Amino acid sequence: MEFLRISPYINLLTHSRFLLTLRSSEGKYHSLILFRLSTGSTVEPVTTSDQYVESPDIRKSAPYGQLYVMESTCPHLGADLSHAEIEECETSVVAVCPWHRYDFDLRTGKSETGLTACTYAVEIRTDPTDGVDVVWMETPEKGSNWRLVQLQPVSEAFADPPPLPASTGTMSESVPDHAVVEEIVPTSNAPTTLMQWAVLILNTADPTLKVQRTKHAVDLFRNGKLASIGHRASNPPRPPDTPPREENYLRNTVSDPRKLGKRKKAAVMLHALANIEQWAIDLAWDIMARFGPSNPDLPPAFFSDFAKMALDESKHFSLLTSRLATMSPSTPYGTLPVHASLWDSALITSNSLRARLAIIHLVHEARGLDVNPGTIDRFRRSGDKDSLAVLEVIHADEVTHVTSGHRWFTWMCERDGLDPVSTFRDEVRKGWRGEIKGPFNDDDRARAGMTKDFYEDLRGDDIGWRKDADLEKALENLKVVDQEPGHPAAATVKVEYDRG
Ligand code: FES
Repeated sequence: MEFLRISPYINLLTHSRFLLTLRSSEGKYHSLILFRLSTGSTVEPVTTSDQYVESPDIRKSAPYGQLYVMESTCPHLGADLSHAEIEECETSVVAVCPWHRYDFDLRTGKSETGLTACTYAVEIRTDPTDGVDVVWMETPEKGSNWRLVQLQPVSEAFADPPPLPASTGTMSESVPDHAVVEEIVPTSNAPTTLMQWAVLILNTADPTLKVQRTKHAVDLFRNGKLASIGHRASNPPRPPDTPPREENYLRNTVSDPRKLGKRKKAAVMLHALANIEQWAIDLAWDIMARFGPSNPDLPPAFFSDFAKMALDESKHFSLLTSRLATMSPSTPYGTLPVHASLWDSALITSNSLRARLAIIHLVHEARGLDVNPGTIDRFRRSGDKDSLAVLEVIHADEVTHVTSGHRWFTWMCERDGLDPVSTFRDEVRKGWRGEIKGPFNDDDRARAGMTKDFYEDLRGDDIGWRKDADLEKALENLKVVDQEPGHPAAATVKVEYDRG
């Protein structure tokens, strides 16, 4: 039996459950949950190969919690088990699935229903070089050279919701008295499926409400309180082409951020990052709502990964806007210019899930891994510890987002009999403009599955962006009709490219 090093035990004391993602050298993924139970458990540890193992030294050096590792997806219909309830019985301890309440023995994985979840032996070994107790786990059977690519606590450390610009001095006059305050759960036509929540959240312009609805919807999904995911429904709701934005947030009060001076440069950066996070929340919901119905074979784990991503991006947005409000009360979120360039890539990839995963998650988000350390370093040098802590949380999460992109891109390639590396490079050539620029953060990219053969010496050939001769001709022939006297003409031209 092979074992994989997970973490020093002491690093696991912060939380009682952790999400582990393993990847084999063949590119297979396994998502697992590590449960750490308190020492108050009455269940005796056992020592057979597929069960929890406690080294003799641990008994002497208690208190140590009991550790269990189980697959993160319920073997019944694929619910995410990271929020399973743990129940201790006289002779066993079980994880109760939030969707249909099947219970699985954490040591054997067995359930009274006859289904069995995979469990893995856990050991604590003392490192002879430094005496540190380290947690190891048995590796999955299929696949070789398993590597831990993600170890993330299951928790949602949210900052308080960001203050609305409307409640600050500079913007208060812009909100009419009769402004309607929307409920988190609409009073009529409340969503009952994940797809319906996704479309509602995409259509929610107010960023605070978007964050609140995201938290609520993901909580309902994880705890089995939705009727279904809804991507196989006969008439699923359609997401908007571009999510709307609240007018108050577009009508910013600071026209030229350069005039803010040096002192405010950090605020400008936090504001820009918060704006990107707001678009990132939408991107996570959009990939589910837009491509779920056209890919009915997507398993629940896909939706679990992207629901987690939506929640992470909401957390990032809240942390950044709260930090911004504290650091620079005169420029809360919504008072500086924002852009929507990230959504350009969403529009270019709106007809293909494979292209979306490649361009948004494996190009844009992977680029974030390259530049984040420099930004973090700048805040570290300035001594701004609070902003630094926020940016470090964000960077750690972003590695897991690229991992999810890689996981589902390779899943699609395997399903369609394609080679992931050459397929990715083809998608970039078709859907990206210009060179994939370095310098690259090779280490974090590799942790996320992006080996160098994916991205080195690669450039897009602008097909998706180019105005071709036919289009030029069509634009010349465009006639404006129904123009009101005295009003400038406005026209919207939607161009669809054949991605074949
Ligand atoms: S009991 Fe877990 S999905 Fe049904």
